[in-house]
Formats: sequence, C-alpha cells, structure tokens
Amino acid sequence: MIDKLKKLALGASLLVTFSHVSVAQKAPQLGKASVDEVINAMTAEEKADLLIGPGMPGYAGLVPVEGEPDVRVLGAAGGTRAIPRLGIPETVVADGPAGLRIQPKRKGDDNTYYATAFPVGTALASTWNTELIEEVGKAMGEEVKEYGVDVLLAPALNIHRNPLNGRNFEYYSEDPLVSGEIAAAYVNGIQSNGVGTSVKHYAANNQETNRLTINEHITERAMRELYLRGFEIAIKNSQPWTVMSAYNKINGEYASSHKDMLTTILRDEWGYEGFVMTDWFGGYAGFQSIMTEGAESDVVAQIEAGNDLLMPGMEAQYARLVKALKEGKISEEAVNKSLKRILNMVLNSPTFKKYKYSNKPDLKAHAEVTRQAAAEGMVLLKNNDNVLPYTAKSSPIAVFGNTSYNFIAGGTGSGDVNEAYSISLIEGLKNAGYQIDQDLKKSYVPFVDESVKKEMKRREEKGLLAVPQRLLEMPLDNKVVSEKAKSSEVAVITIGRNSGENEDRHINEDFYLAQDEVKLINKVSNAFHAENKKVIVILNIGGVIETASWKDKVDAILLAWQPGQEGGNSVADVFSGKVNPSGKLTMTFPVDYNQHPSASNWLGTPIANPEEVFYKEGIYVGYRYFNTFDVEPAYEFGYGKSYTSFEYSDLKLSDGTFKDEIEVSFKVTNTGKVAGKEIAQLYLSAPAVLVDKPEAELKAFAKTKVLKPGKSEKISFTLKAKDLASFVNEKSAWIAEKGEYSVKIGASSKDIQLSDSFKVDSNITAEKVNNTFDLDAEMEVLKNN
Ligand code: BGC
Repeated sequence: MIDKLKKLALGASLLVTFSHVSVAQKAPQLGKASVDEVINAMTAEEKADLLIGPGMPGYAGLVPVEGEPDVRVLGAAGGTRAIPRLGIPETVVADGPAGLRIQPKRKGDDNTYYATAFPVGTALASTWNTELIEEVGKAMGEEVKEYGVDVLLAPALNIHRNPLNGRNFEYYSEDPLVSGEIAAAYVNGIQSNGVGTSVKHYAANNQETNRLTINEHITERAMRELYLRGFEIAIKNSQPWTVMSAYNKINGEYASSHKDMLTTILRDEWGYEGFVMTDWFGGYAGFQSIMTEGAESDVVAQIEAGNDLLMPGMEAQYARLVKALKEGKISEEAVNKSLKRILNMVLNSPTFKKYKYSNKPDLKAHAEVTRQAAAEGMVLLKNNDNVLPYTAKSSPIAVFGNTSYNFIAGGTGSGDVNEAYSISLIEGLKNAGYQIDQDLKKSYVPFVDESVKKEMKRREEKGLLAVPQRLLEMPLDNKVVSEKAKSSEVAVITIGRNSGENEDRHINEDFYLAQDEVKLINKVSNAFHAENKKVIVILNIGGVIETASWKDKVDAILLAWQPGQEGGNSVADVFSGKVNPSGKLTMTFPVDYNQHPSASNWLGTPIANPEEVFYKEGIYVGYRYFNTFDVEPAYEFGYGKSYTSFEYSDLKLSDGTFKDEIEVSFKVTNTGKVAGKEIAQLYLSAPAVLVDKPEAELKAFAKTKVLKPGKSEKISFTLKAKDLASFVNEKSAWIAEKGEYSVKIGASSKDIQLSDSFKVDSNITAEKVNNTFDLDAEMEVLKNN
C-alpha cells in the first residue's frame, strides 16, 4: 500500500502548480533578511510550497523518471521545496535508521553512491554503549553530509510492545530509558556533522498492520511512562532538528494532528525547538482519503496542532492549504510558527550553507565502525563448556542453515540501506582463517540462490515485500550429517529472519521455529553430540524469536542480530574471541508468545481488519510485566553472557534519605581470565500507595571500559526526583511517593548483585504537567495489586 502511495506522490509532485509571483526585485532574502521578514513577504502559494513537501521525485527509480524534474540525490525520500524569489533553496531528507538510504547508481554516471549498512536498531541498542552509538552516528552523519542530504530520517525509537511488530528491528527496546539514551547518542553523533535527524515515529507506532488508520486506546500513564518517555529523553538530551509524527491514532486522534502531543507536551513541556513532519501520507485513511475532498484528517488540523510539514506532499493538500490561507480559515499564528521552524532548519542546512559535498564519504573507515559496533551488540545467550570462543582452525567447521550462506545485513523497507557489499557468515569465518566444509557449501549455495528466486516470485505475486522473511531449510540426508559429524570438530547452524515496514511478523514459522528448522537443529545436534562434538547456533534476526523449546539441544547460542554489511566479520570476531561479547538484551525473550500481556489484544479488532486496539496491559510491557507478575522468560531483559566474569561490590548511597538527589556508586571487577566490558544496570523498587508500580524499573545503566582481568571500575549514578517518580493521573503529575526505595544493582533485570535502600520523607511532586490523552473508550487496565 505505502509503495503505491509513494508512487502516487511521485506522480503527484508533477501536478503541483508552482505559482510563484513574478520576481520582485526587493524581495527579502533568507539569510540576509530576518526569518520574520521573509515570512511576511510570502504569498499564500509560497507558504504552501514550504509547508507541503515536494512529493517524492526520484524516490523509487534507479534512474531519473522521464519528464520528472532533476533530483539532486536519487532515492531520497523527499525534502522541502525551493522558493528562489526569497533565496530559499530546496533541502533533501532521506531514510533511515541503519544508514543512509539512497539509490546507489545513476543513469549516465559511472560513479556509485553506496552507503554503509550499519547494524539495525536492536543490535545498536544491545551494546548499551552510548559512546559507541555516538561514533556510529558520526560516521553515518558523514555519509549524509557527503552525499548532499540535509536530514536523515532516523533514529526510530518506538517501544517494543510486542515481539511481532515488523519494525522492531529498527527500534531499540521495550524500555524507554534505553530507547531514549541510545537515540540521544545517535542524534548527537549524526548532528555533530552539521546535518539533521528526525526522531520517529512520534509516538506509539507499535504495529504495522493498518498502521495508517489504527486507533490505539492508551492511558495517559502508559503514554507518559513508556511511549513518550524515550522521545522525551532523546529530545531533551539531543535537540534533534526534526521529529516525525506517527501514522496511528491515539485515543481517537491522529498523531499528526494531536495537539496534546505536538504542542502541549513536545513544545510547551519539553521545550522542543525543531520542526515536526508527518510520516509519509500520515493522517489519512489511505489512498482514497488522500484523493477525496474532506479527508478524514486535514491540512488545517495538522498544522494547527503543531505538525509543521506534511510529507511527502500531495496536490490535494497543497490546494486545500492555499484555499484555507486565502479564505483565512487557518490560524495565521500557527502557519507562521511552522514556517519559522522550517526556515530555521533550512538556514542551518548544509545546502543553505552551500556545502560542497564530495559524494565520497569515507566508506572504508565506516566499514570498521560498523564491524566493531555489530560485534559489540552481539549477545551471547548460552555458552556451555565454554565452547566459544572457538579457536581450532585445523579442521573444517560444518556450517548448516541457509542463512549462513545468505546472511541478513538488515531489515527491509525504509530501514534498508543500499550497501556495496555484505559479508556472509562463511566469508567472515574464512576471513578469520577458519576452514569451512566444502561439500556443505557446494550444496547450500545453489539451493539458497534458487530458494531466494522462488520466494521472491511468490511474495511478489502475493503483493508482499520482495524480500523473503525466511527460506525453507535445505533438506539434509542423515548420512551426510553423520559424516560431517565425524569429519568436523564443530557444527554451526544459523537461523535467520527478516521483516520490515508494512507487515507484522507471524507467530508460526517466524516467532516460533518452523518444522524444517526444528528438524535441522535436531538432526545436527543428534549427530554431533553422538560424536561428542559441539553445536553452535547463530541467530541472524531483527527481533525476538522463541528459544526455550530448542535451546537445550545446542551448546552455544550467539545472538548476532542483523549486524550490517560487515556482519560475517563481526560474528567471526566474537566467535574467535578477538572480541569478548558484551551485548545484553534490551527486550525480554519469552518462553512462549502468549506470556506477553499484549498477546491477547495484539493488532486489535475486528481481527480480520483491525480498527482499534486496547492497550490493556497499561504500563506492564516487557520486563515490567514479567518481573512483576513472576512470569519466567527464556532470557530476561538485561541478560547477556561474557567470556569472562564480573564481581560487583562496594555499593554506597550518598544518603539514607533522599533530598534533591542521591548518588549511588559501586565497583565492577573483572574476575575472569580475559579482558571484557560489563553492562551494569540500576533498578529501583518504589513504594506504591498512590499508584501501583512494577516490581522494579531500570533507572540508570553504564558500560565499563575494557577491564583487564583483575581490574575494576567505579560506577556512579545520580538519581533525581523524576527518576523516582511515577505518573499519577489524578494529579497530572510525576510524583515520588514517600516511603522506602530499594536500589538494585544488576547484571540483568533478574540477576541482582547488590542492593540497598533509602527513604523519601514525604511525597515529592517532581513535575506537574498538563492533563492530556483523555481516553475515548472505556478500558479495564492491568494493575499490580
Ligand atoms: C516510513 C518512515 C520513512 C518514510 C519515508 C514511511 O513509510 O514509515 O519511517 O521515513 O516512509 O521513506
């Protein structure tokens, strides 16, 4: 659907009539005259030129489309229009979270425009390393700048409400603190290049099914504590140039015309100064609604709510806005504010500053950045008998599973990147000096090639995304597997999954392994264990899958995520021990899909074509639910193993009673035999008199530097009143309740190493806010009491 819309926008961009007034000699020029003077000089048409995007010229095609105006950056998603009379240049925006998404080839041009495919969001977040994420951002931003783009449409930080969201791979976590901190670091890194970002999708874009129309009923508390909180942290800590509003409705109002969200909270409460753009075609019920008069949402409501730019820009929107401007049916104040915000961005843009981009970013240096980031985001889920690191290079490794030969660098849709190359697992292992069993390779390579072709055709016929979510595993003869168990010292099996925007993931054969995959694991494990040899599973996935039913059958599991274009090399770095794994889970891996409280209302009703969804689990998302209601997961939030071990000690609180803040410090020591980094997490249990609370919530985290064996690092956190507080709806305030708070320092959300407590003498109102998000339907919400 969205692709159809995107094509339509491309066509539509040609239809827009540019009705600039004839060149007036003394028209104020942007940069010379003040922004207000420029705005005052604008005609209605010029105002619409700036508030309605230019369509998507050059978005879809590999080469410029016949008759279409020249595009500066082929494959960019849009931008803002030029108004030459006023000295306003066009600017360019392009996707997306895992790197810059532009077309790599141009007609009549021998140069290539490849970008680096960095690890996907879940992989980046699993590093818990904000310094590293900032470095990734710096590298990504250099590509944005050197390819002539002004704003990158990233980062994406919606909460993982449910493991089946098709875009979870682009997002970071089920926890808003992790999401917000990672996003802020990413934005700071990118923007240090003098280019912009767009934090998206603001907010609660938690499912792809009917994303353009779905009405989500969510309590104000869940909005403020979960779905908005990550955005709040990112905005306050990084001031992204732009924000992208989400498609969905919240309590009956489209996010793109939600005044509470776009003005009251974003601007008035959080002090945001940049501009907001819609997601592409956001605020309309789809194709028909955009084309017909009296669309469900409308330009006036969006701009008056504080949504400054409508993307990608449609003829109908343009006409409606011009009419409203001429008839005085739109607030002049709102229009001028939006124009000012957009012009401020234009003034800051490399385009306005006439930056001479090279089209030659440092792809070589960035390959190294992505390789390291991906390795650091890998999570070692299991490692019996220290099978990893695996250092024997004298006998071949038996490599099973289609995905080993067709490794997945990243997800699909706007979160995809056009990279020059992608290192598969077998290439990575080979580059690291390992021998790969050649018979298996000879069977797998042609099988995988053929399967990809077939599956792409099938999906195309069904109108699905052109990239397979998974391929049916190559059937294996028992005899072959037994032979390999004799001739190889170890087996590696890769399980792969792909997904992307527009489509959610499925429970069967996606979240759960398919029968062909179960057979593969059984066959290989039985044969190798019969020979006393080990089996290692590599998970090349973007989001959570089920592991509980098969994890006991194998010896080690390395969660490699979708690690970007250097993926095979990054896996080999961890496999060989060159890098000691230090990633931890930023989401829960459940035993069973139905353990998630959102499972019973995922996607909404009516089931065949959901219109509304009730977030009945309230604030109990992810570990907040599992740990409060004593539900045992397969791997908990915050979990991840290392090749070394760490000891926590010396917990100190600066005071027994909380005044304005409290300092918590402790020591982490590497007690193992190899160097490594540890992620320490601070959870807080708070008194629950005014409102019910989760058992504990993450309030701070830190990653140590590389600690050599025997070495320690002191970690300190400062907790402020807002860190102690929960949102109390009746009082429209964040309140830290009086009573006793337990500070729990954990290696994961369940592996608590140290604890202590402090008191709050009387209720503290950490922040008084506006009353927003009135529910539009009755809803029973899960409580802990
Ligand atoms: C996606 C956005 C993306 C935009 C432009 C939309 O379909 O939801 O994340 O930035 O397209 O490609």
